Amino acid sequence: MTTPLLQVDAVTVHFGGITALERVGFSLVAGELLGLIGPNGAGKTTLLRAIIGVVAPDEGRVHLAGRDITTLSTDARARLGLALTHQIVRPFRSMSVIDNVVLAAGHAKTGSLLKAVAAVGRVAEERRAGELLALVGIADFAQANPAALPLGALKRLEVARALAIDPKVLLLDEPLAGLNSVEAERLAETLVRLNAGGITMILIEHNLAKVAEVCARLVVLDNGRKIADGATRETLADPAVVAAYIGKEAADART
Ligand SMILES: Nc1ncnc2c1ncn2[C@@H]1O[C@H](COP(=O)(O)OP(=O)(O)O)[C@@H](O)[C@H]1O
Ligand SMILES: [Mg+2]
Repeated sequence: MTTPLLQVDAVTVHFGGITALERVGFSLVAGELLGLIGPNGAGKTTLLRAIIGVVAPDEGRVHLAGRDITTLSTDARARLGLALTHQIVRPFRSMSVIDNVVLAAGHAKTGSLLKAVAAVGRVAEERRAGELLALVGIADFAQANPAALPLGALKRLEVARALAIDPKVLLLDEPLAGLNSVEAERLAETLVRLNAGGITMILIEHNLAKVAEVCARLVVLDNGRKIADGATRETLADPAVVAAYIGKEAADART
């Protein structure tokens, strides 16, 4: 049997009185592009934040390539190859698009923002950053200020910044949200291409048609619990999954 690249065991996260995650576990084999779905408030973002180390689980373990990383800092996890793209994109507005990518690479390597700033302007780093911008399709914006970028390009910059650390596992929190259908299609194609190139991924996405198009396997959360885990088509037809979505829509309609 193959050792999972990422393994999450019985992770529980409380925020005050709220149980955001309750004994959630799953594993990810190298090369997978896993879809993480569930109604609003299900715990999807919290799960990615627990994997990356921004949120400390109250219980449970996280393993990367067989190594227990549960208590490591986010910087240490980045150096081991874990990257997260955020739902809300916040690049540094005081520097160009390409310098944002250089900074992300330097920060991951050195664990220090100050040292990372010193790397900005170096030829080798800039060349690599330029390649990443081309890879995600925004090379034309390299010298622009992030403030001037449309949302689609900002989302691509967020992916380029995550790629700058050479991740083994890329965690994507709704990278397609807010994009028009053409932009979403292009970014989804980019993600599939990167996955085919060897980067293992977890993708949070609320458009189920899109998820079905891109992901072979799904993990479904509802109210902090895992309610399904399996092949996409079967999982989307699972009565518990259908009920979670319909129940949530009914509740939303009442409010
Ligand atoms: N930092 C936080 N402090 C308090 N409650 C939080 C925090 N982050 C998330 N929650 C709560 O945890 C639950 C899961 O949230 P989240 O992981 O953001 O869900 P999703 O990404 O699936 O929409 C929600 O009830 C949310 O309000
Ligand atoms: Mg979320």
